[in-house]
Amino acid sequence: MGNIVKFFDTTLRDGEQTPGVNFNTQEKVQIAKQLENWGVDCLEAGFPYSSEGDFEAVQAIARELSTTTVCGLARCNKKDIDACTQAMADSDNKQIHIFVATSPIHRESKLKKSKEEIIEIVKEHVTYARQSFDNVQFSAEDATRTEWDYLAEVVETAIQHGANVINIPDTVGYTNPQEMSNLFKYLAENVPSFDQAEFAVHCHNDLGMAVANSLAAVENGASRIEGTVNGIGERAGNTALEEVAVALHIRKDYYQKETNIKLSETKRISDLVSRMSGMPVPRNKAVIGANAFAHESGIHQDGVLKNPETYEIITPQLVGVEKNELPLGKLSGRHAFKVRLQELGYDTSNEEKLTEDFKSFKDLADQKKNVTETDLHALMTGRSIEE
Ligand code: KIV
Ligand code: ZN
Repeated sequence: MGNIVKFFDTTLRDGEQTPGVNFNTQEKVQIAKQLENWGVDCLEAGFPYSSEGDFEAVQAIARELSTTTVCGLARCNKKDIDACTQAMADSDNKQIHIFVATSPIHRESKLKKSKEEIIEIVKEHVTYARQSFDNVQFSAEDATRTEWDYLAEVVETAIQHGANVINIPDTVGYTNPQEMSNLFKYLAENVPSFDQAEFAVHCHNDLGMAVANSLAAVENGASRIEGTVNGIGERAGNTALEEVAVALHIRKDYYQKETNIKLSETKRISDLVSRMSGMPVPRNKAVIGANAFAHESGIHQDGVLKNPETYEIITPQLVGVEKNELPLGKLSGRHAFKVRLQELGYDTSNEEKLTEDFKSFKDLADQKKNVTETDLHALMTGRSIEE
């Protein structure tokens, strides 16, 4: 197993499947360029057959990017594959992503196909896609709810017919890290050509385990992680790639993996996707939320002022955030209060006066959720305080 974990970003395809999100071509190109700058290895620019707009966006991105591989999505049918071929005709660095569902519920209720029929579909369409693309990614949709022996057979068939990337999607966010580990171990042992393809994992977050499941796959043979910026996507979303990137970096001692992601560009891409998708990043979101580097309680603030490593495993600068914050509220301590007054230019050398001011601050903080800079100036100068 190599040492590099590759990042496959699908913000512009699966991320755009977020209810209410719709990127125009210009926005897609802008996001794609920033994704390239962030260091993603491959990005799924859209589903060319699905609409003229998507075709145009995939074409524009395929023309624009050079370092990052551009990918288009296709179902297992020739019209979808042809649309991908045309949309990416001008690119030298491209991949097609074809998929078909393999689980019993999808076979019986959605596709109305037998196991054998699906194997034939895979043979025919991987072979067809391979005529136009050197890089063919095959996904077994709803893989984690598919019988494992059948999944292994489908995957082996795809590799035999020319797929060089195999993606294992947890389409409905159903699995858990232990089960994902076991599934990858099973595939490594039961797919004869496992070593001839690159394995990817694609997780959804319905049970809040997308990042953990992706990391479990990486520990057991996956060398590509698929996901989106800020974890946007269908229902509860996809694997949040910024969380995976930072987890692999911070716990390099454990995972022993490298990535091509430029972590200092993380905040920039997160802000861009949030703005263009109209999806605000929750304040408590790991790695990139506004509270990720904010410390509220007195005990934590005191620790951080003495040594940030007491309560910060990630430095804000690592992900492109300027600095941490010590918001003042009723749980804040004297140490943080004093430091903030000094930052605002007040003399704090008189300990008796500071004790009195701290008491007034606490009285005020009991009545307000956040004590602002304006409140502090008012407190120190005796002006009236805004409600
Ligand atoms: O979640 C999923 O199964 C997908 C496929 C198209 C790979 O997005
Ligand atoms: Zn998906």
